[in-house]
This record gives sequence, C-alpha cells and structure tokens, in this order.
Amino acid sequence: MKNTVVAAVCTAAMLLAANANGAADVESRVNELLAKMTLEEKIGQLSQSAGAPASMAAGLESQDMSKANPDDRLFAAVREGRIGSLIGRRGVKKYNELQRAAMSGRLGIPLLVGHDMIHSAKTCYPIPLALSCAWDEDLWERVGAAMAPESILQGCNWTFTPMVDVALDARWGRIAEGAGSDSLVTSLFGAAMVRGLQGEDMADGFHIAACAKHFVAYGAAMGGRDYNAVEMSDDTLRDVYLPPFRAAVEAGVATVMPAFHSFNGIPCSVNRYLLTDILRREFGFDGMTISDYAAVKECTVACHGVAEEGADVAAKALYAGMDMEMVSENYANGVAEALKKGLLKRETLDNAVRNILRVKFRLGLFDHPEIDEDAVSKKVDLAANLALARECAQKGVVVLKNDGVLPLKKESKIAVVGDLADDWKDMFGCWAGSGVSNSKDTKLIEGFKVDGACAKYSRCYNMDGKLDEKELRRAAGEADVVVAAFGEYSRENGENNSKVRIELNPVQLKVLDILAATKKPFVAVVFTGRPLAMPELARKANAVAVAWNLGSAAGLGIADVLLGEVEPWGRLTTDFPNASGECPKFYSRTTTGRPNGTYEQGPRWSTRYRDAPDKSVWPFGFGLAYTTFEYANESARVDGDKVVFSADVKNTGARKGTELVQVYVRDVLAETVRPRRQLKGFKRVALEPGETQKVEVEVPVASLGYTLNGKYRVEPGAFEAWIAPHSDVGRKIGFELK
Ligand code: BGC
Repeated sequence: MKNTVVAAVCTAAMLLAANANGAADVESRVNELLAKMTLEEKIGQLSQSAGAPASMAAGLESQDMSKANPDDRLFAAVREGRIGSLIGRRGVKKYNELQRAAMSGRLGIPLLVGHDMIHSAKTCYPIPLALSCAWDEDLWERVGAAMAPESILQGCNWTFTPMVDVALDARWGRIAEGAGSDSLVTSLFGAAMVRGLQGEDMADGFHIAACAKHFVAYGAAMGGRDYNAVEMSDDTLRDVYLPPFRAAVEAGVATVMPAFHSFNGIPCSVNRYLLTDILRREFGFDGMTISDYAAVKECTVACHGVAEEGADVAAKALYAGMDMEMVSENYANGVAEALKKGLLKRETLDNAVRNILRVKFRLGLFDHPEIDEDAVSKKVDLAANLALARECAQKGVVVLKNDGVLPLKKESKIAVVGDLADDWKDMFGCWAGSGVSNSKDTKLIEGFKVDGACAKYSRCYNMDGKLDEKELRRAAGEADVVVAAFGEYSRENGENNSKVRIELNPVQLKVLDILAATKKPFVAVVFTGRPLAMPELARKANAVAVAWNLGSAAGLGIADVLLGEVEPWGRLTTDFPNASGECPKFYSRTTTGRPNGTYEQGPRWSTRYRDAPDKSVWPFGFGLAYTTFEYANESARVDGDKVVFSADVKNTGARKGTELVQVYVRDVLAETVRPRRQLKGFKRVALEPGETQKVEVEVPVASLGYTLNGKYRVEPGAFEAWIAPHSDVGRKIGFELK
C-alpha cells in the first residue's frame, strides 16, 4: 500500500515536472518564433477572418490577384501569413489544404480554425440550458469529449463554447445558450465542458480548444435586451458573474471571448480592467482572447462610440487585452499606424501575438497541422453518440406538474397534437449547426412509436398560427389522453432574440382552453429555449413537462420519460416566472427592507407586484419524479474547513426514483445585503420504494463568503440553511462559523 502511494507521488511529481518542461518548451518556441516575425506577420496573427480579408486587396493587386476567385485569394492570404485564424467549417479536406498553405508560408505558422459548435457538431445534444437541467457534471464532460472529434471532422480545431454567462432574465434570448441563473451551477458545468472538449492533452489530435464566453456579465444586459449596456457593482460582478470564468480558466480553457456590451460605461472589448486586471492578472489566464463578431469595430463611432476606426480602436483594444479580432479589420488596417503614432507599444503587440502562438503550440498545430481523418473517424462512434444524446435528452426533461396522468400507459390511445410534436428541426435549438436529421430519434411522435406506444399524430395547430379547432376536438375525443406541444420555435431564442412577452401566445391559450374543456386528461410538453411565463398551463394541464430543445434524440428522450421507461431526472436551473413583467426573476435575489411573507406590517407593504404572486410558477431547482420523497433530520455541522450538511431522504412512493438534494445557505448578518438563499452544493441519490438514505453534502467554508469593496471575506457568525428538493421549500436549520 505504502509503495503504491510512493509510486503515485513519484508519478505526480514526474508529471508536474514534465508539464513544467512542456510549458517552458512552449514558451521558448513561442519566443523563438516571435523573434523571427516581421510586423506584417505579427499583424496577420491577430486577425481572424471568414474568407480572404478585404484589407489585403491592395497588396494583391501587385500580384495580379485582385481578380482571382475568393478561394484563391484566401489561400494567397494564408500563405502570406495575413490571417492567424479562420472562422467557419470547411470540412477536413479544405482544412488540410489550408493548413498546408499556412505551413508553406515563410515561417510556417498553422491556422486556428474556429466555429460555433455550441451543443452539436454532427450529433446534436440538448441546448446548454436543457443540459444544465440534468445537474450532471460528468454528462457535460462526456458531451464535450464526444463533440470534440466530431468537430475536428468538420474541419475545426476550436469551438466558441461554453457560454458561461449567468442569465437571470428570461427575456434575454441567449439564456438558451448557458446553464441558467446560478453561478455555482454555471461554473461546474462550464468547467466540465472545457475538460471534455480539451481533454487532458489538447494536442492529442482528438480534442479542440474551448472558448469561455462572453466575458463578462453579458447576461445582465439591461431589460434583458441583447447587446444592451450593463451597469453593476464590482462586488456583484465578482460574486455572481466572474466565478464561472474563473472556473473555466482553472480548468485550463484555451481562449476567452470578451462580450459585445459595455460594462459600467466601457465596452468589454476595450475594457482593460476586465481583460487585463481581472482576467490576466487576477485569474492568471495565459491563453488568448478573441473578440466577438466584429466587436472591435463596434467600439467605434457608429456603435459604442468610444474610439475611431483603425489605429485608435486597434490600440485601445490591444492595450485592453484583446488579442485577436474576429472578422472586422481594424488590427489589419490600424496596428502599423498605431505603432507609428505611438498609440501602441511594441510590447503590447508582441504579448498579443505570444498569447495566440501559445494556443497554437498547445494545440500541437505546429507539429501536426493536418487532421488525420482516419484516426479521428475511428474515435467517432455515431451510434454511441446518439445513445449519449438520448441520455442527455432523458435527463434534460423536467416534469413540472403531474396529477397522476404520467407516466402514460403505452396501450392508452394517445393523441399527439401541435406542429412541434412532429418536427425535427426545432428540436435542435439555436446554434445547432448541422445536427443529425434523424427523424426517428428526433420527433416526439416518432419517439412514442419507437417506444411502442399507441400514439397517433394530428397537427391541429401551429405554435403561432393556424388552429383547426374541430380537428383538435376530434383528435382529443378519440383518445384516452392528449399530449400537446406548447412553447416557442427555436428561432425565437438564442442570439438577439430577446422578447418583451414570454407568455404563451393567444393560439396556445386557445388550444389550452379547448383541451381543458374536452375533459380528456392532457399533458403539455413545452418546447422552448427560455423559461416561459405560463401559469395557465400550471392551472389547466393535467401534467406539464418542459422539453426544451433536446437535440438529435429529443423525441426518444421525451417519450422515454413520459412513458416511464426512465424515471424523471431533470430539475430546473432557472425560475419560471408568472409574467414577463417580473423579469429578471431569480431565486437568489438579495434580502430587502420589507421581505415578502415575513414583513411585520403584512403583505400590503412588503415587496411584491400587485398583480402577480411572489412565488415563481416553478422555482429554481424544481422538478418532479414519479415517486415522492421526504426529508428528515436535516442538520449542518462545521468540520474544520467544511460544513457537512446532512438529511435522511426517504422514497415514500411506489416507484424507484432519483432525488436531487440541494443545499441553500443564507448569511444572516453581514456588512451588505446577502441573497435570501444561495445554492452551495447538491447531490443526487437513487432510492428504491420505501428506502431511506442519509445524504451528506460537504460545502467548503471558503465558499460561504462574499465580496466587499473588492475583497472576498467569509464572516463568522450565524447562517441559515435548507437541505431541500428546491429553492422555495425546506425546513430552516442553522449553523455558526467561529
Ligand atoms: C456571438 C458569439 C459567437 C460569434 C461567432 C457572435 O455573434 O455573440 O457567441 O461565438 O458570433 O459566431
């Protein structure tokens, strides 16, 4: 035993030394190369392009290339080292040709080729918001690992994911792209995705570079309106929005993408406080930053209005810490002039180039610039990936209401209605790329059939259009139970799809009324990329399941849950509000002077909206199983540098099931107002009927603090805690930090 430990220590020490040598080796190769580079070659490295850059037209005229086709111009630009990176998928053949062109240049510097493979390359996994409802770090890592080789086969070595923006506002369309409204959840799953995509060795030929985005606080856009300004205290930034980025950096993320918006008046793209003081100096990030799409240009007079185009904005962005410019060409056009005018120091330019080269070396591109298609193909098992997609889909479904109609019986006559129940494209969700178009696994109606259910489809209505009332009544009339699709099309969420109204539209409300009037039991399956305000559904449907956009195996995964082939697993990672006007509505809001529910003067004077209940329709952490659980003997005990939370959890129903035991904490007396509850840990437990298990969740004391005037502190004193099935219930217990 002793020997084993010694051996393990030796191995770890040797590994550390090897890594240190590897890092030193990379650094010396970076510096060696940098020393040989001309100014033009350095500027080339700073530019990411979608094709031949416009800025090179002048240079090409002399070579009689100005009339050449775009592809030839692109290859010429690559050979000349005018491009450091390309955006887009071009397939392996083109990728390899382009890398050969790059390597045949004077210094032979390979290209970074990036694309938005957010939750799919070939196989489509659930949108991140849906995947977060699985509360399963390991699953996120497995999805990342499966996506990496599929992405390589699309001709990429880099993806712009994970989005680790904490999103509190359901109006913001990009809430679909992240892991919901909690900082801890977003940190854990974002870091897991980075580990999956990049693997232990990013240079092994089967992994790709990840990109944590959008740095930072993009999810706090005022009014939930995309690209809008963000104003917030530095302490809130540090406690809520920065931790997921820190976690991604600690997981070794290769690249970070600053966000489009202005943060406290300064666009993130030129914000030195964010990009250098925090990201580089505090977090120790030594990868590269890549601007968002044309975001450097957007700092200029026509947009944000904080810089002139060309030299001015190039100097400001580089000084701030923006290494590479995506698609706009201010670096290409302005860096030389900025140097000449003294707006930009050589050292600043060199550091940006170093950061970019470092990522290229870490990816092993200098040693293996081309994709070994055969070897990578062997790593891609599409059937296994589809099985993984099915597991993700099953785990992403969240059952929100069930009066006993679920699980459905296979032999019941099930009427399936609504266009989204017979749709595969919308199951992929926003940023889906070219997901597998396998309708057998993707459409809900097909999923029911594959599972052997007696299901019959009739469209009856579109989500936002035609409703055939007669047909809907007929379909319901013939059936034992109705499964009806609700929600929004995937084109209604994602980037720049903010909404002022997140309620069900009039067509869907009408469908709901018709179904309720038939007195036939009906299950509402909600396809959406954001939490919707749908209290009517909570009242009128017999069962509600949110099925998001679950990807290639959406139909199968949903059917598996609705038919009870698997037990419901998903729990919400956002609140579902009563109405749009409540947004942002999130469980972890801070305490107020007149707390709702406990204020001594009663509800009339406590914080509230006159016309909506204080509670969310479905709160953060919520989700039903087909069995029930009871909590007893909740306790919290401080043990050195951790607090051990414990509860006896019993399965009180007749089916087996898994419960997600969640730990919430409130610092009772602090220097500043604290969240009324904040998630600090969770653990999943599988229980047979009647079984009880003691569940313990350990929480580091160091995670119980908050930031005051820029300094993180953990204060001694009293804390309240809840070990509970979701954020809105539980017996309050307490503990004290000395
Ligand atoms: C989005 C990014 C994305 C980039 C490149 C931008 O519009 O904000 O999330 O990575 O485009 O496609």
